Amino acid sequence: MSVYKAPRGTHDIFGELALALEKLDLISRIIFKKHNFKEVKTPIFEDVNLFTRSIGESTDIVEKEMYVFEDRKGRKLALRPEGTASLVRAYIEHNFNQTEPVGKFFYSGEMFRYERPQAGRYRQFSQMGAEYLGNPNPNADAEIILVASEILESLSIKDIKIHLNSLGCSGCRSEFRKKLVKYFSSISDLCQDCQRRLDKNPLRLLDCKIDAGKFQNIPTMQECLCPDCNNHFEQVQTLLNSVGCEYEINHKLVRGLDYYTRTVFEIRSSSVGSQDALCAGGRYDNLVEELGGVQVPSVGFALGCERVLMAAEKNSFFDNLNADDLVFVAIADEELFNHAFTFANKLLSNKDNLCSVLGVKDNIIVEGPFNNKSLKSQLKLADRLGAKKTIIFGKNEFDNGKIIVKDMSTQEQKEISYRS
Ligand code: HAM
Repeated sequence: MSVYKAPRGTHDIFGELALALEKLDLISRIIFKKHNFKEVKTPIFEDVNLFTRSIGESTDIVEKEMYVFEDRKGRKLALRPEGTASLVRAYIEHNFNQTEPVGKFFYSGEMFRYERPQAGRYRQFSQMGAEYLGNPNPNADAEIILVASEILESLSIKDIKIHLNSLGCSGCRSEFRKKLVKYFSSISDLCQDCQRRLDKNPLRLLDCKIDAGKFQNIPTMQECLCPDCNNHFEQVQTLLNSVGCEYEINHKLVRGLDYYTRTVFEIRSSSVGSQDALCAGGRYDNLVEELGGVQVPSVGFALGCERVLMAAEKNSFFDNLNADDLVFVAIADEELFNHAFTFANKLLSNKDNLCSVLGVKDNIIVEGPFNNKSLKSQLKLADRLGAKKTIIFGKNEFDNGKIIVKDMSTQEQKEISYRS
């Protein structure tokens, strides 16, 4: 048994999960590109202040979940807990507002949060995210929500619901905060976290799991939205309605990061247990300015790949992952190893149209040849690998300019002409 184990909250990705992750990445990229989003890869660690400043000092992520460390020169760094802050940092650093005609970007990669691990919640996890910078209009919010749901739909995830809310602008929010503080102050037995947050961040009390049962007739953000924010929120809904996108208004949706303004949303699945948010995002009109840039109203989302794949697995996404044909090259005589080796390489590059001669797809997987193995054990291995065809190099056949093609599902064998 290995002395070492993957650290708590992390996991090794292999087998079907690795294939599924690759497919999710591929499908998301096709959809991002179709909507004209361009990829940006940012470092896995950044100056810790970037996250403290953007995500907010009184959020769970900053208070207790970041992996913070000092490098050898004493710089305080953090493993990225999310992708938006880094993308905005890159946007400002490289003047993307001047060089990129439309500010649409996507990213994928590992994020790190010191959370209590459970199904769907890890300390290292992957996100695919999209950010639309520089468009203040409701169509950007609608497009972001539609891109996210298009990805989930193309993975055949059916049991999803879009939760939508507006957090307004700073003006609406300060009125909402006042109402909330008044409301929550009248509740005597708030949990410790809620008591601590009541002053700093009363909105976060709305998604407290411990106290949820004690809250009735809570003031809603909608009551406090100014005419501009209200109009923006209505237009987002009108646009979503116009393309038949179903959603539910959720007044309690506040999100766990402080940078949001106006639209916020989560796409939740009923098939994955308590960690049901597959994807989440919203508008952040002030973040670029807060991080040192000019005012660039923006909106984005990120989906959690592991959670998305948990939901996709429940919806048969894993059934057809191994779709490529595998061709196994076997030898009945060790003398023929070099000929079989050359054949396998020709097959890989489809020389002399070999794939169509064998009746397999162009993008095949080729395995073999192996020496020091009997033909019987080579055929057994081909079977275990799920080979579609096995090519057998036999001495008599090869001397007569032929090789054997065995169909592994019907067990039929035929000879075809081949010269190396
Ligand atoms: P978030 O809600 O913190 O938002 O994370 C987005 C998604 O990442 C979640 O809905 C979930 O699927 C996944 N996720 C979060 N934490 C974990 C975890 N510990 N284990 C597994 N999956 C997890 C953000 O990160 C924002 N940056 C989204 C955004 C982009 N807003 C605007 N633009």
